Amino acid sequence: MTVDLRVDLSGMHLKTPLILASGILGLSGRMLAEISKIESIGAVTTKSIGLKPRDGYPNPTIVVLPYGFINSMGLPNPGVESFLAELDEAGGFGSPLIASFYGYNIDEITEVAKIIARHQAVSALELNVSCPHVSGISEIGVKPELVAEAVAKVKKYVDKPLFVKLSPNTHLVVEVARAAAEAGADGVTAVNTVKAIAIDAELCKPILSGVYGGLSGPALKPIALRCVYEIYKEVDIPIIGCGGVSSYLDVVEFMLAGASAVALGSIIALKGVEVFGELARGLSRYLERKGIRSVREIVGLSHR
Ligand code: DHB
Repeated sequence: MTVDLRVDLSGMHLKTPLILASGILGLSGRMLAEISKIESIGAVTTKSIGLKPRDGYPNPTIVVLPYGFINSMGLPNPGVESFLAELDEAGGFGSPLIASFYGYNIDEITEVAKIIARHQAVSALELNVSCPHVSGISEIGVKPELVAEAVAKVKKYVDKPLFVKLSPNTHLVVEVARAAAEAGADGVTAVNTVKAIAIDAELCKPILSGVYGGLSGPALKPIALRCVYEIYKEVDIPIIGCGGVSSYLDVVEFMLAGASAVALGSIIALKGVEVFGELARGLSRYLERKGIRSVREIVGLSHR
């Protein structure tokens, strides 16, 4: 039996449900274009892009733990105009490009969205209102009314699909997702990293130069899965599941919980892009074993 891994995501056609998450290998346009041509990749997401260039934080910016990473890069990016110039030189993309972006207020969010959406290589936008430790950003994503306002304003000017990357650092994750949907978002990405800290017992001080960081990897998975499950029950727009996926079974679990596609981050940083092929093969074998023809059939199946 040949199984079908294709998914439709808010108007985008993905060869597989496997997406490169924002912040992983995605800083240069050329690199993203190369990765987008890998056969088992459904879509690629850029690092979050802002209006102005940002250097990010000095080292140390990452702590490696047995169960994941805590990272605190400080949103380093070249700014939207330079990033678009990089895309001009990147050549063609083999799968849809999702542009992750941020702003410190609703006007700035709208301005970045307008500029970034103009580029023909950009298939969809993902609004990062959930970076857990950069002040001015994390505050937006935990307030349903602010997220609604941002989405409504962006959608007034941008006709490409808009996803909102949700924060797990609130008990309002469903409310924020609902507010985004009601304001016209085309989907949500659930979820960003969990706000975390690491302390050096010898030096008696926090390890990361930014003090706080975002926890990703296996420790995040059950939390992210719970968020997807709760959102799917209550909100009727597509969900990109994200958080600690490291095996094909994790992909299956996220889709059973209600994700239409799944973004991979930490595992790619750890093991490289070969993982996409591995997970796609595992997913195909799972569907064959279950006698299920299309991966689309398992979306939300755990809610029956
Ligand atoms: C950073 C941004 C994020 O959205 C996140 O989840 C973790 C880290 C950063 O650039 O520091």
